[in-house]
Amino acid sequence: MKLLFDNFMVNGLSFLSSAFILLIGIGVLAIIVMFVIDITQTQDAVRRNFPVLGRFRSLFTKLGEFFRQYFFAMDREELPFNRAEREWIHRAAEGKDNTVAFGSSKILTVPGTAIFVNCPFPTLDSDAIEVQPLRIGEGCEKPYDAPSFFNISAMSYGALSTPAVKALSAGAKMAGCWMNTGEGGLSTHHLEGGADIVFQIGTAKYGVRDDTGNLSDDKLREVAAHDQVKMIELKMSQGAKPGKGGILPGSKVTAEIAAIRGIPEGQDSISPNRHPEINDAASMLDMINHIRAVTGKPVGFKAVLGSYGWLSELAEEIHRRGLQSAPDFITVDSGDGGTGAAPMPLMDNVGLVVRESLPLVVDILTEYGLRDRIKIIASGKLVTPSEVAWALASGADFINSARGFMFSLGCIQALKCNKNTCPTGITTHNKRLQNGLNPAEKSVKVANFCKNLIHEVEIISHSCGVGRPRLLKRKHVRIVLPDGTSVPMDERFPYKNVLPDYAPHVVVS
Ligand SMILES: Cc1cc2nc3c(=O)[nH]c(=O)nc-3n(C[C@H](O)[C@H](O)[C@H](O)COP(=O)(O)O)c2cc1C
Ligand code: SF4
Repeated sequence: MKLLFDNFMVNGLSFLSSAFILLIGIGVLAIIVMFVIDITQTQDAVRRNFPVLGRFRSLFTKLGEFFRQYFFAMDREELPFNRAEREWIHRAAEGKDNTVAFGSSKILTVPGTAIFVNCPFPTLDSDAIEVQPLRIGEGCEKPYDAPSFFNISAMSYGALSTPAVKALSAGAKMAGCWMNTGEGGLSTHHLEGGADIVFQIGTAKYGVRDDTGNLSDDKLREVAAHDQVKMIELKMSQGAKPGKGGILPGSKVTAEIAAIRGIPEGQDSISPNRHPEINDAASMLDMINHIRAVTGKPVGFKAVLGSYGWLSELAEEIHRRGLQSAPDFITVDSGDGGTGAAPMPLMDNVGLVVRESLPLVVDILTEYGLRDRIKIIASGKLVTPSEVAWALASGADFINSARGFMFSLGCIQALKCNKNTCPTGITTHNKRLQNGLNPAEKSVKVANFCKNLIHEVEIISHSCGVGRPRLLKRKHVRIVLPDGTSVPMDERFPYKNVLPDYAPHVVVS
């Protein structure tokens, strides 16, 4: 009996240990299979860069959604972009069904919220008018008929990785929008997708500087000779860091980036905090007209608004010189705009947000009779259809987005853009991490995001009873007040008349 029991125990233990070893073997095999699948797939950058481990991210993200819903951040709480916004962009980029169920999670009584005024008789889909190109630089040697009102904002090659620039360039071409180079110069990666390019000149004149750091007309002419380069943007300031130049840490200054920018490899790339040769409205106009004379292409400037009396001085100077001297466009950036790297105090508390500055710029240009001559581009957290529709209704002609397009590339808001350790390969020059970003796959997402956003802005405009988005006006928006009721936007920001000295008298309605 005892022998039988001993045999049973020995066989049992042997079976259990074999089963245990088998289980471990299956586990190891499963990990190897997952590793191979993750490293070879191109859909998910995190899984490609962090095989097997990356799978936990989506599991924890999914579980986190439940935990956060009850204990921590709600759908509309995270910053700079909340989950609802990020998810909308993600679905738009995937080209998936972008409807939501049950009801809105947005609190509509928060002061400042824009509510669109729907029309009892919306525009029939069959009566909708397709988005038309809008000309920038009328009177210029080579004006630009810009096809899309939603475009890719300035992000330098350097802040962005090679595959990110390639994906944006190809995606912009597919969507028919422009791509702004940012202040890091023009690379072959910008050009290879075939998109329209806006070339930006920052304070360090990267890509078009001579040996002493001044603007080189020869280099500028070379850049502008590319047919794809449609406009030049002079960067005066940026919402995230007004009064501070660009910052690119040495770890991101590769040999290629150094060559494109015309600076030493591996050293921090810090641009001056102002164009040394521009110290007032008159010298800014001098520079704009010089660049236009050299390139023959539309030239404008980008700025975040703080004080704004100088805009009136600029308008008066334009009238003294003649309308042809005006900038062809102004890009109004928001105080809460994004960046690769910036000091927190500037990021947090300097510069007006676009909600306030955009109507202000529109009104000043209207008062000086310059509204038609100078096109207005708005940027700053305008990443969902309602925000873009608000900007158009406020008076913008075009909207630029940087971070919206980063999300379409797969950005997970890890906030490591300044560290060269971006887990999705968008803002790093680490080859291993870049490997997760497949330009061919991501370019489709970039294009989907752009096209779907435009489509949903059209839906808003049709609901308001106008045939196309650019017909949205301030009267189509109401702004929520602290008591939860709302006022028409054209009451809060009334349209201005042209000042008597700058007739013909026109009332914008
Ligand atoms: C990674 C990154 C790099 C940027 N680089 C530039 C730049 O080179 N020049 C510039 O004018 N703005 C730059 N910006 C600012 C954006 O062009 C844009 O004005 C700002 O982020 C607001 O738009 P958004 O809210 O859609 O991101 C950068 C932004 C990001 C996130
Ligand atoms: S994933 Fe993080 S580090 Fe990468 S681009 Fe997005 S915010 Fe920047």
